[in-house]
Amino acid sequence: MEQTFFDKIGEENITLLVTRFYDLVFEDKTIAPLFKTDKELIKEKQRMFLTQFFGGPSLYSDVYGHPKMRARHMPHPIGGKEAEAWLSCMSQAINTLPIEEKIKQDMMQRLIPTAMFMVNKE
Ligand code: HEM
Repeated sequence: MEQTFFDKIGEENITLLVTRFYDLVFEDKTIAPLFKTDKELIKEKQRMFLTQFFGGPSLYSDVYGHPKMRARHMPHPIGGKEAEAWLSCMSQAINTLPIEEKIKQDMMQRLIPTAMFMVNKE
C-alpha cells in the first residue's frame, strides 16, 4: 500500500513533536497566557489532530467530531503576532525531529496556511 505523508513522518515523531512543541508554547510570552485548561489534554488533542491532519487515522474526529478548527479557536484572541509565535514554536519543534529535511519543509508548508486561517482579530 502507498505510504501516506503521516507514514513518512512516523507516529512516534508526532508524539515527540507535540511534547517539544508545547514545551515551547507554554514558555512563549505571546501565546502561553492563552492556554488556560488542562495542558496534558491539549497535548493529547493536538497529537490526535495532527495525526489526521497529516493523513493518518482520524483519531481527533472519531472522538471530538468535525474539527471546525477556526470555530474552536474563536474564544481565543489570535492576531498575526500570535500566529507567528505559534509557527515559530512549531518550526523549532519540527527541526528537532530525526526526519528528512524535505518532510520538515512539507510539514511547515501545510501548517503555515492553517495557522493564518486561525487569525480572528485585527
Ligand atoms: C495560529 C496560532 C494558534 C494559537 C494562538 C492557538 C491557540 C490555541 C488555544 C489557546 C487553544 C485552547 C487551549 C485550551 O483549551 O486551553 C487551542 C486549541 C487547539 N488548537 Fe490551536 N492555536 C493556533 C493554531 C492552531 C493550528 C494551526 C492548529 C492545527 C494545525 C491548532 C490545533 C489546535 C487543537 C487541535 C486544539 C484543541 C481543540 C479542542 O479543544 O478540541 N491550533 N489552540
